[in-house]
Amino acid sequence: MQKIPLLLALMTIMLFSACSKKSNPGKTVKVIPTTYTIDMVPFLQAKCSPCHLPSKGGFKANFENYESAKKMAADMLTRVSLNPGDRGFMPFKHAKLAVEEIALIKKWVDGGLLEK
Ligand code: HEC
Repeated sequence: MQKIPLLLALMTIMLFSACSKKSNPGKTVKVIPTTYTIDMVPFLQAKCSPCHLPSKGGFKANFENYESAKKMAADMLTRVSLNPGDRGFMPFKHAKLAVEEIALIKKWVDGGLLEK
């Protein structure tokens, strides 16, 4: 009689360890951080040009410089989340960014605004 609860306990442990093996197939998913140099520069150059790129004659907040872009990051996210016609909407006089593009800025902000 005493042996049954022990057996049940053992079976439970075996069941759980089998499950945990299934949910972790041995592969580690490498999380690649979103950085200014690799991800943001090409994006900002494509989508915020020329207005925020001094090298292209832009005179609004400078997104070609890491420190300056970093300071503006929260405001970037707020403005691209608005809708065309809203006060402060960005990109100015352009269509709203795609969901993935907005998500990219958010990833950069949430990831701690890494430079590289
Ligand atoms: C066609 C020109 C143009 C483009 C393209 C543009 N902006 Fe702007 N941006 C402006 C202007 C004009 C202002 C100032 C007006 C205002 O504050 O609403 C501004 C202001 C801003 C500001 C506040 C800081 C400042 O410079 O006054 C942020 C942040 C910003 N834009 C983000 C963005 C982002 C992010 C993009 C690209 C996804 C973008 N903008 C694309 C013209 C532009």
